[in-house]
Amino acid sequence: MSEKRDGFGSKLGVIAAAAGSAVGLGNIYRFPCLAGENGGGAFLLIYVAIVLCLGIPIMMAEFYIGRRGGKNPVGSIKSLAPKTHWNLIGYIGILAAFVVLAFYSTVSGWTLEYIYKAATNFFAGKDIATIEQGFTDFHNNPFRPFLWQFVFMGFTAFIIFKGVKDGVEKYTKILMPALFVILIVLCFKSLTMSGAKEGLKFLFKPDFSKVDGTVLLAALGQAFFSLSVGMGALITYGSYISKKDNLTTTSLSVVAADTLVAVLAGIIIFPAAFTFGIQPEAGAGLAFNTLPMIFNKMTGGYFFCIIFFILLSIAALTSTISLLEVIVAFLSEEHGIKRNTATWIGTLVSLFLGVLCTLSLRKGSVLAFGNMTFFDFMDKFSANFLLPIGALFIVIFVAWKMGKESFYDEITNQNTLKVSVKKFIYFIIKFVAPIVILAIFVNQLI
Ligand code: TRP
Repeated sequence: MSEKRDGFGSKLGVIAAAAGSAVGLGNIYRFPCLAGENGGGAFLLIYVAIVLCLGIPIMMAEFYIGRRGGKNPVGSIKSLAPKTHWNLIGYIGILAAFVVLAFYSTVSGWTLEYIYKAATNFFAGKDIATIEQGFTDFHNNPFRPFLWQFVFMGFTAFIIFKGVKDGVEKYTKILMPALFVILIVLCFKSLTMSGAKEGLKFLFKPDFSKVDGTVLLAALGQAFFSLSVGMGALITYGSYISKKDNLTTTSLSVVAADTLVAVLAGIIIFPAAFTFGIQPEAGAGLAFNTLPMIFNKMTGGYFFCIIFFILLSIAALTSTISLLEVIVAFLSEEHGIKRNTATWIGTLVSLFLGVLCTLSLRKGSVLAFGNMTFFDFMDKFSANFLLPIGALFIVIFVAWKMGKESFYDEITNQNTLKVSVKKFIYFIIKFVAPIVILAIFVNQLI
């Protein structure tokens, strides 16, 4: 390969891109939905504990593999452990990228529909029942969900065509801070609503009687999903990080931003849900139905609603590009396929799977088995299975195959940085993370 490899141009760019990958529908749509279904406060507590204890070390492990290996997940592991089978971990990641991208593109499509609905003033003056009905009708529309899904994946492919520095980095650096500001505004609004007290109580008051193996696994899966760890997205991004950047502080910033956005989303959604009488365990529609209602009650709600859904779709976009980038880097580096062709292949295959997800949500769809739709299956299969397995093997690879010296060398930039927590991080990677993941996992299997 004589061509110079693309990479991030600045430290801020790295954080923006990695935070862009992490912050997405997982925070604003999936987190409140799961917290609602799994009892609120106790789920939040377990989630935050997992994010803080395991999230940061696993993220560092991925960045380490990527920056040291210098390639996509399969290639990076191959170059770190040549002539072994460890690179199978990379293949699990590629599979996970397709699975996540499939159902993610469905939900991303919804965000575009909601921009349209907001702009055409669909929500104005409607009550919650009508808005909920609108959500259901949309799934059953023969045309619109697919249209938006295609448009969305088109945007994703467009940015990937442009490459890392001029595509991924340039856009995320502006858009992420904007999302943050509007979330803060919404928080203040939601906190003045009549259901604020009840909503906050639901979110922050832990009721451990609801906690069982399923809740633990859901929290584990959501933590990995939200941080984008366990499949090599951050291995791939790690390979674009400059040798001078500090992997520890980068990981800390990304985890902090991601967790903050999830908690903010909870603070926005639950008070509003209680105000409008939406059940917290309402499932997929929770965010999509409550949010327009908040805007309905707000001065300037019309504009805020449009801006919000634009930003939400952008947050989704910075996540889908990180997923597609994994596939494209893999196809082009490991199979010598041109970047543009690889982008086409990745986009079309994930769209195909994505369309199946969208179809499965239609009334009476043959792609729904009992109460498990193909969409739910792809969601659960990735978050509760592929990502924990991926993360498990990643930490095992880093600690038990690569070892301490190599890890310390990389995260201290060849001993030029002082990372006082390195021993602690390594201890977690070597012992705590594998045991906790295995325990939660096995407990659920039996
Ligand atoms: N983290 C993103 C979100 O919360 C989704 C995502 C992007 C992802 N890249 C990933 C999930 C890689 C798992 C693995 O919306």
